[in-house]
Amino acid sequence: MSDTVTLTDNTTGRSVELPIQRGSEGPGAIDISTLYRETGLFTYDPGFVATASCHSAITYIDGEAGILRYRGYPIEQLAEHCTFMEVAHLLICGELPGVEKLAEFQSTIHKHMMVNESLTKFFQGFRYDSHPMAMMAGVVASLSAFYHDTLDIENLEHRAEAAQRMIAKVATIAAASYKRNIGEPFMYPQNNLHYCDNLLHMMFATPCGPYESDPVAVRALNILFILHADHEQNASTSTVRLAASSGANPYACIAAGVTSLWGPAHGGANEAVLKQLDEIGCRENIPKFIARAKDKDDPFRLMGFGHRVYKNYDPRATIIRQVAHEVLENYQGKDRRMFDLALELEEIALKDEYFVERKLYPNVDFYSGMIYHALGIPRNMLTVMFAVARTAGWVSHWMEMMCDPVKRIGRPRQVYDGAVKRDFVPMDQR
Ligand code: SDX
Repeated sequence: MSDTVTLTDNTTGRSVELPIQRGSEGPGAIDISTLYRETGLFTYDPGFVATASCHSAITYIDGEAGILRYRGYPIEQLAEHCTFMEVAHLLICGELPGVEKLAEFQSTIHKHMMVNESLTKFFQGFRYDSHPMAMMAGVVASLSAFYHDTLDIENLEHRAEAAQRMIAKVATIAAASYKRNIGEPFMYPQNNLHYCDNLLHMMFATPCGPYESDPVAVRALNILFILHADHEQNASTSTVRLAASSGANPYACIAAGVTSLWGPAHGGANEAVLKQLDEIGCRENIPKFIARAKDKDDPFRLMGFGHRVYKNYDPRATIIRQVAHEVLENYQGKDRRMFDLALELEEIALKDEYFVERKLYPNVDFYSGMIYHALGIPRNMLTVMFAVARTAGWVSHWMEMMCDPVKRIGRPRQVYDGAVKRDFVPMDQR
């Protein structure tokens, strides 16, 4: 029996047999590439809830079971045993690096962490209080200007170098965005510091004296970056793929991913969670906000809750909540109160029929902001940190796509609802 489905247009009685494409795990997909030619019909799937845009071997998610794996490795094991650089190598190259390969990869990343000195001048064009994501989007896109003509995207070595350059430079650009905001001089990356330690150094060191990162902060940042590194065909990764499908410069494609990530429904949710917890203020106000979240006439949503794919606990939220406990256990003040309020909000929401029925659980963004806050990272930098981590995933998908033999420009169609044909009306008859 062939692996196909048969669709019948009940209006015309015509049937069409379509092949099913199967992967190594998870749902198969109906190959509809011949559907329009055979039936004159498109498919319609707003938000791409049930649409596979590509084949990919990078990340596997089972939303019902709350499973997340990078290249087959469970996220829980990677978060417990790896550094972010090991995971970045895994995502790009497909394998966890041995000692030598990791040293070589890290050395290449270190080599690319400095940015062209003229790039640092771009930040002077931004008001000091510009949102760091606005600076990230602008400056990451401007990387194209420095490497556009030294990049042949058909050349595998050029592609690998561009991928490593982007992972390296987004950290430096992120730190520079922060320094611009606080009016401090930019700090150069240090070749003797590993990636996350280097980022914290570029953010918090000053030319006035020595700076050593807190090992607890470095470990927490590695875990946060591993958890945020990739997530299948999410909105920002799909944006990168769509931009790349036209053959655009990879730096411009990653900048497109940065802008897509910024939205509060996506990577901007971590910043929105902290803002919302501030608005809630205390446990007594929680029922009022839960009621608003349930009110169909109120656009208000509980930020950090719900997910397109996870209809179970986001496995990343489970890990982050544990890390938050560990990082915050020495804190008493505002951070502890905010974390305790978040735990109470989660407890109340998960007992409410509305959330239970819709399988709305805390997602990766619900607790991450509290950890970043405890590490001294301000809330307008939270999505920037997400973008730094996700760049590893974005460049992995870009590399995978560039090797895909079925490489076509992404060009969705539509169901047209506009005016049917009508003739021009002269001005004196309008
Ligand atoms: C990320 O895709 C990824 O993988 C993203 C990400 C990644 O790593 O790349 O995981 C990162 O973006 C996590 C999500 C961060 N966003 C938020 O926390 C914002 C709050 N969440 C919602 O906006 C929403 O849950 C989304 C955007 C995350 C998912 O939206 P969907 O899949 O389109 O869900 P939906 O709007 O169809 O909701 C289904 C129902 C609706 O109610 P009904 O119409 O069925 O009555 O659930 C309700 C929604 O109103 N609902 C919520 C809710 N989320 C969904 N109601 C209140 N509060 C919420 N947060």
